[in-house]
Amino acid sequence: MTTTRSVVLGYGAYLPERIVTNAELTKTVDTSDEWIVQRTGIRQRHIAADGEYTSHLGIKAAQAAIANAGIDAQSIDLIVLATSTPDNTFPATAVQIQEALGIHHGAAFDVQAVCSGFIFALATADNFLKSGAFKRALVIGAETFSRILDWNDRTTCVLFGDGAGAVVLDAQQQPGSSADRGVLTTHLRSDGRHKDKLFVDGGPSTTQTAGHLRMEGREVFKHAVGMITDVIVDAFNATGTTADDIDWLVPHQANKRIIDASAKKLHIAPEKVVLTVDEHGNTSAASIPLALAVAAADGRIKKGDLVMLEAMGGGFTWGSALLRW
Ligand code: UT7
Repeated sequence: MTTTRSVVLGYGAYLPERIVTNAELTKTVDTSDEWIVQRTGIRQRHIAADGEYTSHLGIKAAQAAIANAGIDAQSIDLIVLATSTPDNTFPATAVQIQEALGIHHGAAFDVQAVCSGFIFALATADNFLKSGAFKRALVIGAETFSRILDWNDRTTCVLFGDGAGAVVLDAQQQPGSSADRGVLTTHLRSDGRHKDKLFVDGGPSTTQTAGHLRMEGREVFKHAVGMITDVIVDAFNATGTTADDIDWLVPHQANKRIIDASAKKLHIAPEKVVLTVDEHGNTSAASIPLALAVAAADGRIKKGDLVMLEAMGGGFTWGSALLRW
């Protein structure tokens, strides 16, 4: 019996032109390149220009993914955008992207799970494709976190950057084993008891402002490795795979120390881990599709490779997705 899988047809990414190095940040906040590199692995981040919005980054990543897939944009009937930095409170930024792509059929909406957003969006699209409700999906992660940072708070402003990444998923019949191409399993988790450890202190219903990001970094760090490794083990158990089967771990890029500790705990070799946090910083929901695009474009991720995605972030939310490229 065959089964429907969401197969990656193409990928794309976009980073704003302006690069801000750690050295540049030391001119405005009390920090050092040494502290940021040692504690996080971050060396630089991209920052959107004035008038460059989340939708603009998302449109460019989406166009790149559509071109890479070699498909007609009109064949896309579902757009799911993961973002916590929408252009406006509403409509969904996904609709702005849909309009820019000239697509006027199907559905487009945003998913908000902060840094886990791409995994939540991918799982949402995957389930819609598997149900038969839609045939071809564009899953995007796009963020302009620079707009919600408190640039006087050195404990947060050095960590984040702007960017966007996207994949095109196509519903295809596969034999129905872990050797299939496409998304093999997804695992999503949330626990609102941790909602005040990483949040934005504003919003339409509370302050009528966008607010600024606030984080108890050490508290988030304390939970990250356990939560990440739990959902990766869930993905292994659901598919009968092990760490040895993984070709690439493409983690959410928040902190190199969290990524290294998670890989070590699971016995995933460092050579199999895709790292972009040094060049991109933490781009929240955009970090995984950006990292996928980097590793696919440079030839590391190849057709048939088994790729594990994972993320953890505000909420807390966390999740994993295992797919064969
Ligand atoms: O993507 C969503 C999920 N988010 C994350 O995964 C972030 C998780 N947390 C982290 O990555 C780390 O906790 C941070 C990178 C945010 C901080 O690293 P840490 O090793 O946990 O440092 P800390 O917060 O314990 O701070 C250590 C010291 C403090 O000084 P004292 O109290 O020891 O004197 C801070 O004030 O470092 C100080 N500090 C800084 N120093 C220079 C904090 N930020 C900076 C800075 N530059 N930018």
